[in-house]
This record gives sequence, C-alpha cells and structure tokens, in this order.
Amino acid sequence: MMKMSTFVLRRGVPALLAVSLFFSCAQEEEMEPYESDGITLAGSFDEYFDIGAAVALGVNSFDSFNTYEDSLLAEFNSFTAENEMKPSVLRTATKGFSWSAADRLVAEAASRGARVRGHALVWHSQTPDWFAKTAANKEAARQNMKDHIEAVLARYDENEVYCWDVVNEAISDGGDYRKTDSPWYTIYGGPEYIRDAFQFARDANPDVQLFYNDYNIVNTPKQDMIVKMIEDLNLIEDGLIDGVGIQAHWNINNWPSKDTIRNTINRFGEMGLRVHITELDLTGRESEQPLLANRYRDIFEVFIECSEYIDSVTFWGVADDHTWLNSHRGYPNFPFVFSEEHQRKTAYYSIRNLVE
Ligand code: G3I
Repeated sequence: MMKMSTFVLRRGVPALLAVSLFFSCAQEEEMEPYESDGITLAGSFDEYFDIGAAVALGVNSFDSFNTYEDSLLAEFNSFTAENEMKPSVLRTATKGFSWSAADRLVAEAASRGARVRGHALVWHSQTPDWFAKTAANKEAARQNMKDHIEAVLARYDENEVYCWDVVNEAISDGGDYRKTDSPWYTIYGGPEYIRDAFQFARDANPDVQLFYNDYNIVNTPKQDMIVKMIEDLNLIEDGLIDGVGIQAHWNINNWPSKDTIRNTINRFGEMGLRVHITELDLTGRESEQPLLANRYRDIFEVFIECSEYIDSVTFWGVADDHTWLNSHRGYPNFPFVFSEEHQRKTAYYSIRNLVE
C-alpha cells in the first residue's frame, strides 16, 4: 500500500485532474520528493564556478518552477530561460513586448539567491520575421535590433540578469559565417550585425557581461572561425565582449575528447575571454546510460582543471523528465545527473565527489 506521506503529485496539476489522476493512475504518479542530503552541487563547486540549469516557464507547456522541488532547484545557483528570453517570446507580431515569463524567471531566481544568464538577444532562429527577414532594409533591421537590446537591458539590470548571450550561433559548422540562413547576415550583407549587437548591448549597460554563444565550438573549422570573427570585428580590442559560451550538447560516449574540451576552453581563456559552459547535456541511447557517470566525471575533471577561465557551467535542463533532446533526436534521452523521478543519479555523485 502506498504511503500517503510519500505520495507527491507534481505541483501545478489542477485539483480536479489531480483527484482523477489519483484514482486512475496513482501508481504512475507516485514520486518520492527530492530530498537534499545537505550538500548541493552549487555549494560543492562554489570555489570553481556557478552550477546552472535551463528552466522552462510555460512556453512549451512545461514549467520547471511548478514541477521541481525547491530542494532540487537549490542544487543550482544560476538559471537560464530555455526559451522565454528569446525574441520569439519577448516580442510579438506587432513589435510589442511580452515580459511576463521573463519577469517571473528573474523573480524566481532572486527569491532563491540565484543568478540569471540571459539567452539570447540576436539569433537567426526564434526571432519574429519583422526583426530582419521582412524589414524594409538594413537600417530598419538595425533599428529593430537596437530597440530590442535597449529595451531588454533597460528592463533587467546587471543584478537581475548579469550576462547575456548577445549573439547566438552566427557561425556555420563548415567554418564560415552563417549567411543565407541568417536573416541578420542577409539584410546587412555581412557580419557587421554581430558587432552592432555587442555595441548596442555594451552601450545599454556597461556592467552586464556580454557573450558570444555557439554549439560545436570544439570542432576546429568552427572554432577557428569564431576566433577569426572575434578578431576581425575587434570585439576584444574595443572592449565589446567578455566571454564565449560553449554550448555543450555533447555525446555520452566519447565526443568530444577530454583533450579537445581542454584545448577549446584554454584557447578562449588565453585570449582573455571568460568561458561559460552554457548548454550541457549528453545525448545517447538508453543502452549507453552506464557510460554517463564516468563521462560526466571526465568532463568535470576538465572543467575543474580549466576553472581559472570558467565562471559558469549550465545544464540545458534540470532533470531527465524535460529535455529538448527527446523531440530533437526522436528517441528517449536521459542526459542529466537527476533522473526523471527527480532523484540523484550515479552521475551526480561522480561529479560532486570530485570536489567533496
Ligand atoms: O512556441 C511554439 C508554440 O506556439 C507551438 O504550439 C509549439 C508546437 O510545437 O511550438 C512552440 O515552439 C517550440 C519552442 O521550443 C517553444 O516551446 C518549438 O516547436 C521548439 O522547436 C522549440 O525548441 C527549442 C529550441 O531551442 C528551438 O531552437 C527548445 O525548447 C530549446 O531547448 C532549444 O534551445 C536551443 C538554445 O536556445 C540554443 N542552442 C541550442 C539549443 C537546443 O536546440
């Protein structure tokens, strides 16, 4: 017989639905609430870097703050909106603003003493067409970008959102600017939009840290081009960029290698840039799950080794019950250190034990 004291329905389930769920499928909904053992990842890694998580605030029908126990969320001291601070959510077809979800994230983080990484100001994806694609000309698009960046940075000061991914994914995997599939590059006729974005952000609030963020940065052609972009646009010389966000959508088996990760972090660190690991998750088949703990241990060993350059490590989700990878890959993924049932996995201890 199930103990009532351990029966927990996910918060946010409406009362009527909750009652019917209780009688119809109580067994499936039975969950032990997350219980802290008094130690958190954020606390454990305190002297190295922040431990963050991407959170959803309802846009894709999932609400992290209504789903996860406070004690589970307390494992993290930094949050990033998975979608809710992107132009597609902040802005409407009529160019108005829709702040409610983003405001809520800022309030939730503040009430937990956590920081917020802003994601993302300028991107080719999840951006209404009027920004650039259907703008009358380059000047109109530039003005739209300026208005957006100024409004967002006026809404949230550096204490509320301490850094932003100013430009996201501007470089192709082949090692060139993303051109025809970027409405920004297309309407500008070149990469100057990237510099404009950093300049607008810096001018709007010089106390906010500004990042370039991308995936597959560990791959040489792309990495070389990102370095070239930063140099060609004089982003460091002109004081416009603080760091690089290395999205870590990596594999559970052996890609990328420890050496590749180390070399990538060191390369940007030696350029004088801060490094944020921004979107950590490890994709793989269920059969590969036994590899997860050792793989996380290896990866965090490198992060600790390179911690003089790293300020933040953010998982692209909290626990295995919510990950973009399931729809993206088309099969179930279990990429995090907390399980679908909101419990610590072996992988959790494999990283925490490195510093405890
Ligand atoms: O908003 C629409 C909604 O109106 C519609 O009913 C619904 C139907 O599917 O779709 C909703 O849009 C979805 C959106 O998330 C918001 O929920 C898109 O289909 C879905 O594709 C989108 O996925 C997001 C993806 O970015 C879009 O590129 C993922 O949740 C999010 O995890 C993912 O995050 C990106 C980072 O921002 C940048 N780096 C890569 C990373 C993974 O793709």
